[in-house]
Amino acid sequence: MQAFWNKNSRYRRVPSDMENVDKQDYKDHSTSRTVSSITNKCSRRYRNVTLFIFVVTIVSILFFLLFRGNRENLENYTNMVKNYTSKAMNLEAQTLAVAKSEVKMALEKYLNSIDPHEIYPDDVNMIKPHHIRVIGAMGDSLTIGSRAENIVGQRQRYPGNAFFTGMDFEVDRHLTVYNIFRIIAEKTGNKLFGGSTGIDYGENTGLNVAIGGMKSDDILRQAKELVSRIKANKEINIENDWKLVSLWIGTNDVGTLGYRLEDPIPVDEYKSHIEKGLLYLKENLPRTIVSIVGMFPAQLLQEAQSILKNGKRARTVENQKKLDDLSDGYRNVSYDFQNNEHFNSNDFTVVVQPFATEYTDSYRDEHGKYNPTFYASDLFHLSKFGHAVLAKHYWLNLFEPVGEKTKRADLGDTKPKIYELNEKNCLIKTVGNSKM
Ligand SMILES: *[C@@H]1O[C@H](CO)[C@@H](O)[C@H](O)[C@H]1NC(C)=O
Ligand SMILES: *[C@@H]1O[C@H](CO)[C@@H](O)[C@H](O)[C@H]1NC(C)=O
Ligand SMILES: *[C@@H]1O[C@H](CO)[C@@H](O)[C@H](O)[C@H]1NC(C)=O
Repeated sequence: MQAFWNKNSRYRRVPSDMENVDKQDYKDHSTSRTVSSITNKCSRRYRNVTLFIFVVTIVSILFFLLFRGNRENLENYTNMVKNYTSKAMNLEAQTLAVAKSEVKMALEKYLNSIDPHEIYPDDVNMIKPHHIRVIGAMGDSLTIGSRAENIVGQRQRYPGNAFFTGMDFEVDRHLTVYNIFRIIAEKTGNKLFGGSTGIDYGENTGLNVAIGGMKSDDILRQAKELVSRIKANKEINIENDWKLVSLWIGTNDVGTLGYRLEDPIPVDEYKSHIEKGLLYLKENLPRTIVSIVGMFPAQLLQEAQSILKNGKRARTVENQKKLDDLSDGYRNVSYDFQNNEHFNSNDFTVVVQPFATEYTDSYRDEHGKYNPTFYASDLFHLSKFGHAVLAKHYWLNLFEPVGEKTKRADLGDTKPKIYELNEKNCLIKTVGNSKM
């Protein structure tokens, strides 16, 4: 048993009912819109009545607390309110942040090399970060930022902290891929869309259409949702603007081999689901680079709880092999799409980011020690810190040529720096521009 595994640790809780958490996730998502449309239709009078009831409820609660005569309880309550509203507490959750000056230095050579008279490119193999105007993401709870909380003890989704699109804080308070692009957009004076903010599902998720608990069979729906959100934004020129879309799905597809109750989705089915989504994007979202996160090994996510707690993987050797083969199969599918000519045209491409595909263990820090700070309180999802660590290594992968990309990132390297770009290495790497 590891030293951190004590009763007072904020990481002691283990997931008891993941399945229901996911169902709740989906329910929250599907009701969030209905609720807001009802509110919109509400008459003013109805709203006033609701407000009145709300105020009465709050006052009653306060009276209840006061007249209980339990000073200690009231004190606890007051402290809690203070805690939840104080800015200092918002920062309590550990993260990885990079000073703006550091980011600017890392981008300086590249930014200075931009020709102010350059023509906006029309070739997917010529795209540099400042050409990207739209950033989106598809996936499951990992992509939407489930449990990547700022304050310990809440259970919602935190799209504002999500590794790819999160923009609640700037890069000097929380590293995300979007936050780096934001600095570039500011420097070059270009527009940038898609960042996600806040808590839970709603318009705040920007162009992050990921939903907790989802599997590959949701990807076509997500692709449609993404395209419709982009079309709804009049400031985006869908034909002209270059887009970068992250896609990461499969962690739930492993079914009973992971922690879920349904049968695993076979590789060929997984493949056909993803294919439908990619075909839809190719047809409807010109000028897009789809960046697929290669399946992480189970040890890094699904089995982290067991490894951190018991020092070993969760399953029998036989089951481990099944799970590993399945993850391997899903991973291979993403390479199939990357290497499929049909998905590589002048204005559309698929590229795999394999930074953690050969990381055959749970998270280890810079001292080589298992370290739960990478994980959310359920030891499966990523903490806010974990999201920032992912962003750091995802960013590096984007600029490494296909075939030479880091596959076993040193996730323990959390130095507050990002990979440096210059005039030579700043193309977003595709199959087309990685050939020697
Ligand atoms: C108030 O908080 C203290 C410290 O967390 C705890 O020991 C105590 O039981 C709490 N009191 C009530 C009434 O909840
Ligand atoms: C409020 O925050 C302080 C400082 O982090 C902590 O000691 C205290 O227990 C918290 N109180 C409650 C009620 O959460
Ligand atoms: C995945 O691809 C690798 C490398 O080509 C191969 O060795 C492995 O057998 C494949 N796994 C599955 C399950 O298809």
